[in-house]
Parts: sequence; structure tokens; C-alpha cells
Amino acid sequence: MMRNPIGWMRTEYNKLVEQNFDWKIRELQGPSTPKARVDGKEVIMLCSNNYLNLSNHPKMKKAALKAIETHGVGSGSVRAIAGTMDLHLELERRLANFKGAEASLTYSAGFACNEGLIPQLVGKNDAIISDELNHGSIIDGVRLTKAKRFVYKHCDTDDLARVLNEAEKEKPDKILVITDGVFSMDGDISPLDKVVEVSQEHGAMIYVDDAHGEAVIGKGGRGIVSHFNLTHHDVHFEMGTFSKAFGVMGGHVSGSRDMVNYALNKSRSWLLSASHPPATVASCIAAIDVLETEEEHVKTLWKNREYFVKGLQQMGYDTGFSQTPIIPAMTGESSKAVALSDGLYKEGILALPIVFPMVARDKARIRNMMNSGLSMEQLDISLAAYEKIGKKLNII
Ligand SMILES: Cc1ncc(COP(=O)(O)O)c(C=O)c1O
Repeated sequence: MMRNPIGWMRTEYNKLVEQNFDWKIRELQGPSTPKARVDGKEVIMLCSNNYLNLSNHPKMKKAALKAIETHGVGSGSVRAIAGTMDLHLELERRLANFKGAEASLTYSAGFACNEGLIPQLVGKNDAIISDELNHGSIIDGVRLTKAKRFVYKHCDTDDLARVLNEAEKEKPDKILVITDGVFSMDGDISPLDKVVEVSQEHGAMIYVDDAHGEAVIGKGGRGIVSHFNLTHHDVHFEMGTFSKAFGVMGGHVSGSRDMVNYALNKSRSWLLSASHPPATVASCIAAIDVLETEEEHVKTLWKNREYFVKGLQQMGYDTGFSQTPIIPAMTGESSKAVALSDGLYKEGILALPIVFPMVARDKARIRNMMNSGLSMEQLDISLAAYEKIGKKLNII
């Protein structure tokens, strides 16, 4: 029989559909705002990473439009050839200053940074040690290395100490310890000060992915290194993204000038992928302006977060290990998370379920992402819907 070259894809897809593991894509019919239009319905948005609603900030939109006028819509090249504009360099200077680092380097996305940089930091005579709940982009970066791989228990620095000793038995030339800053499914924070303490005893490099801490934690949203009063002598790679609280798009890493010089000469995702269009870069610069001058966004985000998490807890919801604006409402069973999300949507709330295989089978949840643009009234409407549907489904 003649082979059907692509028939296997439909078979695999159908298997996902049978298990209800396929993504049902929602259509956002307008901007990502705290009240948005999704699939023809006005909803309160509780699942966007646009924590500070900066994607709609007038100064950022204005900066993007101006950059199109002055620099066009595309950069024309990869950074290393003809795609480094004055704007790209200005963004890196501004970011390094914001982060209190010697230098910063931007990538097309956070994923591209992890995938392109991590494999260049360790090789076959080295060891890489990763938190068991690290983000998929770190996992892929780690998979691309030839280093010996180790995993430590989530946020457990005693276990990290044990694993470091284990790794030393292999006599590695270099050791890289890598962790998320804020964990994206649970909203807990890595004990980075302790990670540094334990790792320094082994002369290990430390890499933190602060995608969800960026513009959320630390002084004025300066991120996890600032949050723990550490420096870039302690944390060698502070990686982040402009695509969440910054409200734009793009990855970045901050640390020493030597690190940046090395990273840009070695990361294939930097060398072989076109640079950001001017509008993107200009709006990232404007986001830094906003964060440096308008402290209220981060403050309101935290005020909303406290109000919402307390409201859920008072009703009897288990909010897991949340320490940040990522607030799970645990349901245990996947079917309950899906039913809760469907019920909330009918009440005009968009909050999506996170189920196996994204989390363990018995750890299904709705993952709420708080937003500084939500009004008290919108938070109360959301909480009332959580109470109504949660009681109906016997979750609370
Ligand atoms: C922890 C973490 N790292 C990296 C990324 C990737 O960032 P980007 O969307 O900029 O590619 C994400 C986004 O989901 C993330 O949550």
C-alpha cells in the first residue's frame, strides 16, 4: 500500500481530541484589555500575561507609531549583519540600567533566549542542574546541551545541595544551576538567595528565568535579582521576557559585559534570527520609561492580587502556593477545572483550566493572572462568579 506521508498527523491529533487534550483556540477580537471581546462575548480577562495592561499604554503605542515613521516596519536583517539599529542598542542600555547590570542582550523571544543560550554555557565535561518544575523553554535548552543533567526537587535547596554533591562526583569543569524565578503554574517564587548560597560553595554559575517576575517583583518591577537584594555577581544570567508584564514581545538576558559578548557571539537563535521590528523595540523602551516614572501600575497589580486571593480563600478555594499575581484555584480533578472554566465563561469571565499533562493528574486548576487594569467592581464580579459556580460544582 502506498504510504500516506502526512496521514499520521490526523491520527495523532484525533488521539488528543479523544482525550480532550487538544487546545481549543479562543479568538480575541480586539486588544488584550482587562475587559476584552473573546469569541463574540465581552469578558473579564483573568488569563492574560499582560499583568500591567501596558500593551495598551498610550505612551507605548505612541512610541511604536513614531518608530514606524522614523525607522520603518522591519529591521531587514539579523542583529549581527545589518539588523542592529540605534533603537536596539538603546533598549539594551536602558534595560541594563533598569536591572542594575553591566550589560543586557535582547533576543526575539524569551524562548529563543533559553533555547539559544543555555546550550552554549555547558558542554560534555560539565554539569547542569535544573529545578524539577522549570519552564518548557528551559527544558528544551537543557536538552540541547551535552552536559550531564541533574534535577533537584522543586524549590528545595537542601535537595539542591545534595544534587550539587552528586554532580561533583562526575568532576565537571563547570556547573550551571538553573531555575525559574516565579513559577508559571503555581505562582511561587524560587528561594534564589538560598540557591545562590548553596551554589556558590561549588563555584557554580546561576541562571534565573524571571519571565513572570519581570515588571512584577523587585523594586519598581526590577525583577528577582532586585527582589532578593542580590547582584549580577551572585546571579550570572538574569533572563526575562518583554512579552508578559512589559506588554510587548522579546527575550533578554542581563549580567556582565563578558557574558553579553560571549552570548551574542555564540547563541544561534540570536545570530541566525532577524532582529525585532522598530515598533517592538521602541515600545519596550517606552515600557521602561513607564516603569521608571509611573510606580502605580506595579502597586495596583499587588493591591488587586491581595484582594482577589483573599476573596478566593475566604470562599474556601485552595490557592496553592501562590505568592505572586499568578493565582491558581485548585480543583484537583481535570473535569472540575474544565467545568469551572466553562461556568465562569458563561458568567462573562475568561479564566482557563490547566490540566494534565501541563500539571500532574490530581493537580488541575484554573490559573488566574491578576491585572492592574481590573477595577474593584470587575474583581467583585469575578469573585461572585467563582462563588456561584464553585458551590454548584461542590469545589467550595
Ligand atoms: C518561565 C517562562 N520562560 C520563558 C517563556 C517564554 O517567553 P516568550 O513568550 O518571550 O518566548 C515563558 C512564556 O511562557 C515563561 O513562562
